[in-house]
Amino acid sequence: MKCTIALLPGDGIGPDVVAQGKLVLEAVAGKFGHEFDFSAYLFGGCAIDAKGTPLPPETLEGAKAADAILMGAAGGPKWDSLPGAQRPEKGLLALRAGLGVYANLRPAALLPQLRDACPLKDEVLAASSPEGKPSFDLLIVRELTGGIYFGHRGRSADGNSAFDTETYSVSEIERLLRVAFVAAQGRRKKLCVVDKANVLESSRLWREVAARVAPDYPDVAVDYLYVDNCSMQLIRAPGRFDVIATSNMFGDILSDEASVLTGSIGMLPSASLGDAAGPAGRPRGLYEPIHGSAPDIAGKDIANPLGTILSAAMLLRHSLGLAAEAAAVEAAVDAVLATGLRTADLATAATPPALRAGTRAMGQAVAHALRARS
Ligand code: IPM
Ligand code: MG
Repeated sequence: MKCTIALLPGDGIGPDVVAQGKLVLEAVAGKFGHEFDFSAYLFGGCAIDAKGTPLPPETLEGAKAADAILMGAAGGPKWDSLPGAQRPEKGLLALRAGLGVYANLRPAALLPQLRDACPLKDEVLAASSPEGKPSFDLLIVRELTGGIYFGHRGRSADGNSAFDTETYSVSEIERLLRVAFVAAQGRRKKLCVVDKANVLESSRLWREVAARVAPDYPDVAVDYLYVDNCSMQLIRAPGRFDVIATSNMFGDILSDEASVLTGSIGMLPSASLGDAAGPAGRPRGLYEPIHGSAPDIAGKDIANPLGTILSAAMLLRHSLGLAAEAAAVEAAVDAVLATGLRTADLATAATPPALRAGTRAMGQAVAHALRARS
């Protein structure tokens, strides 16, 4: 297969981890006989510095012209004092909206190799897990192009008050929920809709829409949780969750919480999908690790590249239709972790120096394991 992949490394550790995602994709191309054509674009704070805007027009055009986009991270202290509308994060929101990628899939599962890095006790994990094992495997489906992130906001004339608004339309809710229902059908057939319907009118609309579309997916069991309760249940009983569908803001918060249970936020990938197809007719997606730009460790060969490498696996699966290749990348990550190799975020006091890896060594180990697989 021949296809184009846009790279948006962005700021902070973004370039460090995207380089390793690219390395692994190149290894996939070599092993499976594909031709991936990479083009890199300026994005985020570095684009503000070079072009005066976090999402230059050529970056959005390049992303739209590609079959898929692999992104790093945007933002950093250098740009924190800019007004909200000019910040690097604004470029990320404009990119998500410009690509129409309204459904953000954030899987979080406990790999047995990382059991030690999960802060929960065995008995807590086992009590809620379907098999009674100390494990969990959940998927957060976060709405990505609406809600309070995109609502009307401002300050009063005297500057003494400020507001942000959460607005959701039926169609925005429905399309997101349908993605979540279909995802649940491909998993353990459980969907938990998370909201704050005891307080928020927009949440009550989410529940109404969920109740209306649920009969279209009779094999999926639906339940509802308030977000405060959900944040507690994630720690008390993560195994009870299969798919969680929620708004932009709640999904942002809950996915950071879930990431800690997997051992490190550095592990979590994401796929953002919409209805638009890329040039090759497959769903064009934006793939990014859920972590931020971590400017304090940028360029130091410390960051964990596995969230980005696993995002590249999601890219292969969802945008290129290469399921076997995606599974091979995931298996290579599993195999490398099984050798005990750990980046700093995953290492414990018991990790010997020989098994402590930097960003590049971890990426190379995954690429090597991928090539070595029969
Ligand atoms: C994420 C990030 C972004 C978000 C920030 C950088 C705007 O936290 O992707 O989770 O809030 O969506
Ligand atoms: Mg976040």
